[in-house]
Amino acid sequence: MHLDKDIIDTLPDSYQIEHITVKPNIILAPMAGVTDSTFRRMILAMGGCGLVSTEMTNAASVSPKACKRHRLLDFLPEERPLTMQLSGNEPELVAHAARTVAELGADVLDINCGCPSPKVTGGGHGASLLRDLPKLERVLTAVRKAVDIPVTLKFRAGWDEESLNYLDTAKIAEACGMAALALHPRTREQRYTGEADWSRVAEVKQHVSIPVIGSGDVKSAHDALHRLHTSGVDGVMIGRAAMSNPWIFMQIAQLRRGEPIFEPTSADKCELLLTYLEMCLSDMPEHLALNKMKQLIGQFSIGLPYSTDLRAGVQRAKDAATARELITAFFAPHMEMDDVGALAA
Ligand SMILES: Cc1cc2nc3c(=O)[nH]c(=O)nc-3n(C[C@H](O)[C@H](O)[C@H](O)COP(=O)(O)O)c2cc1C
Repeated sequence: MHLDKDIIDTLPDSYQIEHITVKPNIILAPMAGVTDSTFRRMILAMGGCGLVSTEMTNAASVSPKACKRHRLLDFLPEERPLTMQLSGNEPELVAHAARTVAELGADVLDINCGCPSPKVTGGGHGASLLRDLPKLERVLTAVRKAVDIPVTLKFRAGWDEESLNYLDTAKIAEACGMAALALHPRTREQRYTGEADWSRVAEVKQHVSIPVIGSGDVKSAHDALHRLHTSGVDGVMIGRAAMSNPWIFMQIAQLRRGEPIFEPTSADKCELLLTYLEMCLSDMPEHLALNKMKQLIGQFSIGLPYSTDLRAGVQRAKDAATARELITAFFAPHMEMDDVGALAA
């Protein structure tokens, strides 16, 4: 899947969400439980990511008071431009939450029409709206009227293979005044199984005139540029790969510039985990910071040789000091091997 520099140079590197320029056009996908302010700042600090989003927040829980309590919509100025994502299915309630989100300082409001979790779809939110497009239309119309900030929609290809309605959904969203669309081209029934069918993203791009972003299975810098090239989309979203390889955004920028792609050493990996742990500790109580570490290490250590014990050890850890020790001890022999390799090279 090699891409010539000549082709890379023709790929778009930015797009507009109304007055907001997203540059580079590589975006951190919203991930509930993951993309909080700490995670977003870790990704942004490495460069190469043009837009970040909060985790999905239930519109019913959004009020300035509640937001202080649950922190889902916390952010720092260096995260801008920032998208805040809401879920909901009652037009007036979502519109009310939209106004609050705009007051809290969101640059972009995104409506979730893709979450497959039964807890969310059971309440008629998320991907459930794909089964009731007139309701989706009412929600989007109400939200569009309620706020001046750009509103975008993130959606799936349909509820199941028998009811694929991504083109209808995209056209309705455009007619309702959405400023951009992001499609994760799996169905709700697929959840995260099978493969993301990017031909659906390419189809949407052909049928609307607002920016279209593709989301799904982008695992490397090559994947990202390959998707931009073959689907003609305006931008690419990266979700799970941001946890297993937080350097991916930076690597995409390097590939574009024709530079060698940074391959993190064991020392880099160790430092990143420890830095993230310290960031979490300064942002939240220790038990929550530890949970965040457990979550990241689950994805991050996939593919690291002999990492089962590290994962299991950190999962059992009762405090941050233990997690720190386990991480340092795990990487020490790897770092020595890297050093020997570097000397031999
Ligand atoms: C743990 C997790 C949480 C997610 N939470 C959200 C969410 O809150 N809002 C949303 O629109 N999508 C959510 N998604 C979907 C991602 O944004 C993305 O569309 C999907 O994971 C496919 O991209 P990927 O293959 O790059 O991960 C979530 C995905 C994961 C794995």
